[in-house]
Amino acid sequence: MKKAIAVIRGDGIGPEIVEQALLVLNKVAEQYGHEFTYTDVDMGGNAIDKWGDPLPQAMLQKCLDSDSVLLGAVGGPKWNDVPGPMRPEKGLLRLRAGMGVYSNNRPAKIWPQLASASPLKQEIVDKGIDFLIVRELIGGIYFGKHETVVEDGEKTAIDELRYSESEIRRIGRIGFETARKRGKKLCSVEKSNVLDSSRLWKKVMHELAAEYPDVELSDMLVDNCAMQIVKAPSQFDVIVTENMFGDILSDEASMITGSIGMIPSSSLGETSCGLYEPIHGSAPDIAGKDIANPIGTILAAAMMLRFSFDMEKEADVIESAVSKVLDEGYRTKDILPADPTGCTLVGCKEMGRLIIENL
Ligand code: IPM
Ligand code: MG
Repeated sequence: MKKAIAVIRGDGIGPEIVEQALLVLNKVAEQYGHEFTYTDVDMGGNAIDKWGDPLPQAMLQKCLDSDSVLLGAVGGPKWNDVPGPMRPEKGLLRLRAGMGVYSNNRPAKIWPQLASASPLKQEIVDKGIDFLIVRELIGGIYFGKHETVVEDGEKTAIDELRYSESEIRRIGRIGFETARKRGKKLCSVEKSNVLDSSRLWKKVMHELAAEYPDVELSDMLVDNCAMQIVKAPSQFDVIVTENMFGDILSDEASMITGSIGMIPSSSLGETSCGLYEPIHGSAPDIAGKDIANPIGTILAAAMMLRFSFDMEKEADVIESAVSKVLDEGYRTKDILPADPTGCTLVGCKEMGRLIIENL
């Protein structure tokens, strides 16, 4: 199969981790007779430096013209003081909105080899951690009006949070469909004791439930959910939630699995053209040192093969190669246990090379 991939290397560790993912994709293409072509897209801080805009229209267009987009990470302290609409993160938000990828899928699954890296007690980990957060990605407070005005002689900042029934319904459906393919349990997370948008969210989820009698729907307030994720994560199968709650809960969920460096994510809308990225940030403090963990990005590339290109076998092969390398004890710094006996510390490039060797 021939596929055109838009590649956003981004800022910080972005370029190094993306490089390893591309090497993995090249090897898979060679083994399975595919042809992947790559188009570089500038987005984030580097695009601000080069074009004065975190996502120039022409760059968004390159993404829309592709079969899918692979992204490293964007942002860094260098651009901390640029105005809100010009921040690197704004490029990412515009990309998500421009591609219409409203459904962000973030797995929280513990790799048995890394169980000791989880900050949770062994007895909690032993009950299993394998759930998925379906996060609404192009609505809510991220996309409401943001403004700072002067009221009664002092600055007042306003961020608007709005959700329409149709926005909630389409992500709700993804939640139910996803649960249907997994453990058939869907937990809808909101703050309906305080927010109108959450009360509407809850109402729409319950309307949808009638169409999915095989899926067990439960409701949970977001503060309680934050607590339950560390207290009893084995209770969760699929969580569906709004944009900002999903942002926060997915960082928490990744941490209990051992390292945020291991978690990929997919973002999809109505077409098969998706956006694939690790969920971690650009980690500017370790950029260029060859110590970053490329696994999150490599697994994001595997997700792209599975969800956008229907290449199940190829995705499986990448995931098993990662598993084998972990079995053999190879670890990047972020996943090296406190007692490293039996483990070999490797850098970003070497981790990529080992995964390719195991494909
Ligand atoms: C994420 C990130 C982004 C978000 C930032 C970089 C804008 O934290 O993908 O979770 O908040 O969505
Ligand atoms: Mg986040």
